[in-house]
Amino acid sequence: MALCKAGSLEVRVQFSAGPENRMKNTKKSHQRVKKRYNQSLLVKYFELGRFISFWKQDKKARKYGAKKLNLKRGGYVLNLACGPGFDFDYIIPSIGSKGKITAIDYSKEMLKLAKKRAGKNGWKNIKFIEGDAAKISYKNTFDAAMVTLGLTVIPNWKKALEKMVNSVKPNGRVVIIDGKLLNGPLKIFNFWVKFISCLAAAQSERDIITEAKKYLKNVEIKEFLFGGLFVLSGTK
Ligand SMILES: C[S@@+](CC[C@H](N)C(=O)[O-])C[C@H]1O[C@@H](n2cnc3c(N)ncnc32)[C@H](O)[C@@H]1O
Repeated sequence: MALCKAGSLEVRVQFSAGPENRMKNTKKSHQRVKKRYNQSLLVKYFELGRFISFWKQDKKARKYGAKKLNLKRGGYVLNLACGPGFDFDYIIPSIGSKGKITAIDYSKEMLKLAKKRAGKNGWKNIKFIEGDAAKISYKNTFDAAMVTLGLTVIPNWKKALEKMVNSVKPNGRVVIIDGKLLNGPLKIFNFWVKFISCLAAAQSERDIITEAKKYLKNVEIKEFLFGGLFVLSGTK
């Protein structure tokens, strides 16, 4: 077990225990995620606009991902684990003021930031819901759904993914943006990838791509940041 601490941000990394031990949907994991996104330095980091942008790769990925939603004016979009609402910037231009977003997050603090962002931009077409992504119960409701850097964090991520796909209309579009471990010679940097991920209570070992392929057709994957970030798009 390794412990990294920066101010009020404290991270326990259990490298030796193997990924499965850190991936369970336990009460402890839920508490850890809630704590991290409600009362740690991470909240400040998001408040300050995420000053580490990794050469703007996440912005590029979001822009590309939103394009893959194939949105039309008036479209209805689910933004799961919306955090401070960075995805809105890329969704709103396509759906316009007649379109709608339902934005769901577990953390009050993240939702506060997202509401502030919407207020600043005059976006009145976003409904904010505080809740667990794995417990949503929409069926064939949205034209599209997007989750960015959420599935590596959500404790019961497989259920959240299944529910997200269920919530989209038949032939609706789903986009998942997330981090993953590096392949090939770059594998040697995976210790660093795991460290950065754990600061955000994220688990980069999760095989989101394989899981998403169970539910989606026409799956396309584009990698950013040397393969450490991927955009998966598909049709329900
Ligand atoms: C790394 S942040 C990503 C936020 C945002 N999507 C972005 O791209 O910046 C992960 C987010 O997932 C949220 N989250 C974690 N577990 C969740 C759950 N079970 N249900 C809903 N949101 C959850 C956290 O509160 C946090 O806002």
